[in-house]
Amino acid sequence: MRIVLKIGGSLIQDEKGDIRIERLAEYAKVVLKLRKEKKEVACIIVGGGKTARKYIEAARKLGAAEGLCDEIGIRAAQLNAQIMIGALDKEAYPTIPETLQEVAGAAATGKIVLAGGLQPGQSTNAVAALVAERIKADILINATDVDGVYTKDPKKDPSAEKLDKVTINEIQEIINEKGFFAGKYELFDPVALKILERSKISTWIINGEDPKSILKIVAGEKLGTRIVY
Ligand code: UTP
Repeated sequence: MRIVLKIGGSLIQDEKGDIRIERLAEYAKVVLKLRKEKKEVACIIVGGGKTARKYIEAARKLGAAEGLCDEIGIRAAQLNAQIMIGALDKEAYPTIPETLQEVAGAAATGKIVLAGGLQPGQSTNAVAALVAERIKADILINATDVDGVYTKDPKKDPSAEKLDKVTINEIQEIINEKGFFAGKYELFDPVALKILERSKISTWIINGEDPKSILKIVAGEKLGTRIVY
């Protein structure tokens, strides 16, 4: 089984921007355990988190173009990904790839590849979808700080209901109300959705506050929300 794992930036950085070191260590443990069981986590994509938002906000106030804000977010995500290289040590590919082709090349070595952002106009969810498609992953696990996909934003609307299954069209409707700006690509961005739609990648969106949830998903337990095609 070949797995691509996306770890949301908010899972590894708190609201102040401090790194959640214990959680990262837990993630490393889980990934190494799966690897021993021949359930290969081929690539881990890490979000830009608070660092991305802080730097993007500052750049925007200084008049930066939206594309430059994206570039800053890409670097922040790469920086967060780089910390995981330290946690996985010899099992990790030692550098952060900057293009999809480089990700594929790095994955072919059999090491666990850590990646952040790739190109402007998308979020790291798109990176995760592109990577999963490119390396023919069996499943994509999107670990975030909510329990799955809700009918509305659960942080803002208490009437929001969690969905066990969701189609790409339903996600599209949920996110249509929101805009797409650097640092603010909520849930899934359009690139991620298009890639998932064409490749029909088995995708789970789960709460990743407990990294052991990854083990549960791989063992076939029903958690979070599954994207159905
Ligand atoms: P993310 O939005 O993916 O990280 O990347 P996040 O804020 O931590 O979100 P979650 O919690 O992981 O989902 C940060 C920013 O970097 C830019 C975007 O501006 C994005 O909002 N980015 C990231 C790109 O422009 N291209 C990429 O390929 C990745």
